[in-house]
Amino acid sequence: MMIAAACFFLFALLIHQESAQLLDWNCVKDPPDHNERVPWLAFIMTPSKNCSGALISKQFVITAANCVVAEKESSVRLNSEVYPVQYTYLTSNDSFTMDIALLKLKEPVIYKPYVRPICILLSDLVLKTGRILKDTRWGLTGSPATKTITKFKNAKCYSSFGKRLNEFQICAGYSNNDQCEEMGSPLGIDANSQNANIYILAGIQSYGALGTCVYSNILRYIGWIVGVVLEVDVFVHH
Ligand SMILES: *[C@@H]1O[C@H](CO)[C@@H](O)[C@H](O)[C@H]1NC(C)=O
Ligand SMILES: *[C@@H]1O[C@H](CO)[C@@H](O)[C@H](O)[C@H]1NC(C)=O
Repeated sequence: MMIAAACFFLFALLIHQESAQLLDWNCVKDPPDHNERVPWLAFIMTPSKNCSGALISKQFVITAANCVVAEKESSVRLNSEVYPVQYTYLTSNDSFTMDIALLKLKEPVIYKPYVRPICILLSDLVLKTGRILKDTRWGLTGSPATKTITKFKNAKCYSSFGKRLNEFQICAGYSNNDQCEEMGSPLGIDANSQNANIYILAGIQSYGALGTCVYSNILRYIGWIVGVVLEVDVFVHH
């Protein structure tokens, strides 16, 4: 019901602004380079854990619901500045299969070279098996890294974790047993938009292990994301 309302809102937005293909046109269009500072990479801190996430607009950061659902407070570090979180928005109570959260910062950020959002494409895109993606994370040592990662068939994650994936999830990983696990790490792809290549957010990591990881499929949550960012009424978790 709430997702339907948000979808309608998105539809209305698209009719009003034919050129509105990105959530925020100030987003970083280029893919992240290995070892480069990534302007949208967010470090999420809660009293019990740290996760990755991504800045998607002046006042919203996206991460995994499991990172923040049981926490009373959280804050976000972007580049070297720390921003307290005002609200946590969840899609539903089911943070295992709908593992996505939007954090509204108390104050909007001011964009600068190392603080800018990742692009969110406001249209349908299907991810094929074998597609090469990139996963960016802080890394356990605190040093950000971007690695290429391959989209696997869902059956591969089923055999690794024993849980069936739904259409809101993406299975991806490495052919070797490299560690891909880092909750909330953003998964991105080069997408073609208006004849230009734009690097867009495709997933947020939910859980994983050596070699194989499950991501929430952002492309299935676009209506909900637009609804929250543009302040359509949704479920609020304090
Ligand atoms: C989270 O990161 C902060 C800052 O780097 C660190 O002080 C803290 O110990 C980390 N917390 C956990 C639970 O790992
Ligand atoms: C969410 O949890 C509350 C309280 O446990 C429950 O009453 C409600 O039905 C749940 N909603 C959904 C969508 O699962």
